[in-house]
Amino acid sequence: MIIKSAKFVSSSTGFGKCPVTDIPEYAFIGRSNVGKSSLINMLTNRTRLAKTSSTPGKTRLINHFIVNNEWYLVDLPGYGYVKAKPGQKKIFQAIITDYIKKRHNLSCLFVLLDSRHEPQKIDLAFISWLGSCGVPFVLIFTKTDKITLSKFKENQKIYESVLLETWEELPPVFKSSASTKLGREDILDYIEKINSNLKD
Ligand code: GTP
Ligand code: MG
Repeated sequence: MIIKSAKFVSSSTGFGKCPVTDIPEYAFIGRSNVGKSSLINMLTNRTRLAKTSSTPGKTRLINHFIVNNEWYLVDLPGYGYVKAKPGQKKIFQAIITDYIKKRHNLSCLFVLLDSRHEPQKIDLAFISWLGSCGVPFVLIFTKTDKITLSKFKENQKIYESVLLETWEELPPVFKSSASTKLGREDILDYIEKINSNLKD
């Protein structure tokens, strides 16, 4: 897919404030600092469309970007940044769960996982929660430039076997790097395919 234009539309404090629209939407979620905003910049070939930071918790709102005047990319706040107080049940922020459960034009959710780590409890809990929502999702392993291919394969295998304990089949899996642009074509092709299926 060729990116002809990519523009910032709005920052919303919650689901109810998001743009009213029927056009397809693709959102990026994952732990704080996993690389959601960087991936949006990499996909759109823009350096500062989405704001990035080396400090976790940079993205706090639901940010909409319109691409080619045809579909939205959405940068969500990360989970795992606001720590639950002792004794409190750990939950994902309502801004995230509300958006995922209610956004009717959400065509696919991209769940980002740091390729350098073995399965993290919070990521598994989030993926398991997603199962109850019925939202289509795919996995993207980020920051692959930071590890060797053999270590990546090892971590991916562990992830897949853990997920297969609860899921009958695995969702599509992509690997990416905001530094080398690995995964750009594959992810954009995937979005393009969904967009054209929706038009049929
Ligand atoms: P929050 O908004 O805080 O939830 O974080 P985020 O998931 O949007 O992460 P962000 O894109 O801001 O990136 C966090 C840090 O990781 C930044 O310092 C990025 O430069 C770095 N980073 C992101 N993706 C990559 C990557 O693919 N490779 C490398 N080497 N660094 C990356
Ligand atoms: Mg961010």
